[in-house]
Amino acid sequence: MDAIETLEKDHHRIRSLFSELEETTEPQKLQDCFDKLSNILIIHAEAEEQVLYPEASNCQDTGEVIAKGYEDHDKGDQMVLEIKSLNPRESQFKQKVKELQSFMLNHLDEEENDLFPKVRQGMDDRKLEKLATEIKHTKAEVASEVVD
Ligand SMILES: [Fe+2]
Repeated sequence: MDAIETLEKDHHRIRSLFSELEETTEPQKLQDCFDKLSNILIIHAEAEEQVLYPEASNCQDTGEVIAKGYEDHDKGDQMVLEIKSLNPRESQFKQKVKELQSFMLNHLDEEENDLFPKVRQGMDDRKLEKLATEIKHTKAEVASEVVD
């Protein structure tokens, strides 16, 4: 799996956790599912910011989408923090998760439709394989630091 495939796999996992949250009404399950999702979002965003974005900035015409990516990650972090302070028994919890969902899905689409093709265009297979390894290490490092 190369770097882009690795990140797309995360995107797939993020989308399916949002769908699971949409279908869930049981508070404990909502909380568990959201905890899982928020950890993945943190780990994934760190891997993009530490490994992908700095390298992708050398690819053509990526400045804008990368700048937007950093902004989106910050906004996503804030939204996640807000939801963490809410009780899943209150209707606000699901409402805020829904807002996060529409925001994050839009972000994932932008990366997949704009950034990732440009990265593929600008890097050879060897480079993409090397970045996949770096992403894997970064994720393991961040995961060990993430405390619930
Ligand atoms: Fe991202």
